[in-house]
Amino acid sequence: MITSKIIAAGKAVPAKIVTNDDLSRLVDTSDEWIKSRTGIEERRISQNETTTDLAYEASKAAFDKYKIDPATIDLIIVATISPDNFMPSTASLLQERLGLNNRHVMAFDINAACTGLVYGIQIAHKFIQTGSAKRALVVGSETLSRTLNWEDRSTCVIFGDGAGAVVLEASDRGIIADYTNSLGDPDLNLAIPALPLKSPFADEMTCSPSCMTMNGAEIFKFASFAVKDAIVHVLEKSGLTMDDIKFIVPHQANMRIVSKISKVMHIPVEKFYVNIKNYGNTSSASIGIALDELLDSGQVHPGDKLILVGFGGGLTWGAILVEF
Ligand code: COA
Repeated sequence: MITSKIIAAGKAVPAKIVTNDDLSRLVDTSDEWIKSRTGIEERRISQNETTTDLAYEASKAAFDKYKIDPATIDLIIVATISPDNFMPSTASLLQERLGLNNRHVMAFDINAACTGLVYGIQIAHKFIQTGSAKRALVVGSETLSRTLNWEDRSTCVIFGDGAGAVVLEASDRGIIADYTNSLGDPDLNLAIPALPLKSPFADEMTCSPSCMTMNGAEIFKFASFAVKDAIVHVLEKSGLTMDDIKFIVPHQANMRIVSKISKVMHIPVEKFYVNIKNYGNTSSASIGIALDELLDSGQVHPGDKLILVGFGGGLTWGAILVEF
């Protein structure tokens, strides 16, 4: 049966490293608090890199490392909640930067918050399975730093900027199971408001603040359910067990969420690839950045099976079980 295989991964992060100590000079926090509550030690924050710049650099890194000609790409999906423009899409801008502007390429952005890369891979996989695309570039790219309230210690210490890219193509082995889900969240437990209604015809509207807001405790509870639910579903769909899985690459949100899942599901914590200490939560970019580093580490061999699992605003969640 035709499936799709991940044939390349790449990442890009801004040059500027911001440590916990740097943040403790901005808000009432400490290295000890951030490390013990989240596992984060530092994050990259953009000084001038845009979401499109990072998406381009991550894609280029994947193409160069795995010797892929960008001209072979016929589908570009960018997952982002911090695009440079509402229009054109980041994917269209990326297409142009990659020199693909006169080619037959479908390019669009998706927003599934921190589950964006998992949703994007699933969509690309379906296009490939149906023959609508041959080679797909899926990128999660974020400059979340511009959405943060830098006076709010409960959010500004958690997030970072970056991009992760993967390339998929048709193959007889690769993605074995995929699962995505979404739960409309009336309480907006994780949100970034967009432009307020503003026109001569609008009812009077109070301008909403444009920064990210988060109910950390509710999101922690949701994440603990969502990661388990997604892993259980892809294992069930594939007929495999956790013993068949070499690594889990989770959305890098909080080391305590990983520890909790490891304990509740009796999965050795070493099975989770975690790099949150270096980057914080980079939303849709985090799984791609982690996967790229894991592949670079030489620990994944042909035939190894991995689970990529994400969760985030929406509330959204999902997982991909893939053989390398
Ligand atoms: N530095 C120091 N203290 C802080 C702080 C910070 N950066 N942020 C919050 N605090 C304080 C709170 O004000 C609170 O003080 P109080 O007891 O005097 O009211 C105290 O620390 C405990 O806050 P609490 O929210 O209970 O901490 P926590 O242990 O639940 O950890 C999170 C907070 C945000 C780290 C945790 O809830 C979490 O990780 N949630 C999931 C968030 C997430 O993953 N979001 C993205 C999903 S894609």
